[in-house]
Amino acid sequence: MSVMKVLVQGINYPRRLLGGRLGKGDPTPAAELTRGRGRVLQTDEGKLAVYRDDAGELRALSPTCTHLGCVVEFNEAERTWDCPCHGSRFNTDGTVISGPARKPLEPRTLSEG
Ligand code: FES
Repeated sequence: MSVMKVLVQGINYPRRLLGGRLGKGDPTPAAELTRGRGRVLQTDEGKLAVYRDDAGELRALSPTCTHLGCVVEFNEAERTWDCPCHGSRFNTDGTVISGPARKPLEPRTLSEG
């Protein structure tokens, strides 16, 4: 990683951390997510990273990156959860694709309603 990239990430980290933590999730009901899409939704359980797979099953995860706590975003092209702060990437089951995060996103229960 270049020195410039590290500096830019360091400058942007506090803004992205606070913006992600304080901002509300998308108010769209989970039932409206189409197959292959994911979003950070505002639910009765709080903010959740929710993905609907090709079979139509919903999977909910904590949206909090296990590196330093930023809120992940869904990458539609790759179908991954990506962290905007330092670039960690997670599979839709929460497992780590690449760090700096080492631990998976925690699974959560989603009550559809
Ligand atoms: Fe650092 Fe997510 S907070 S990679």
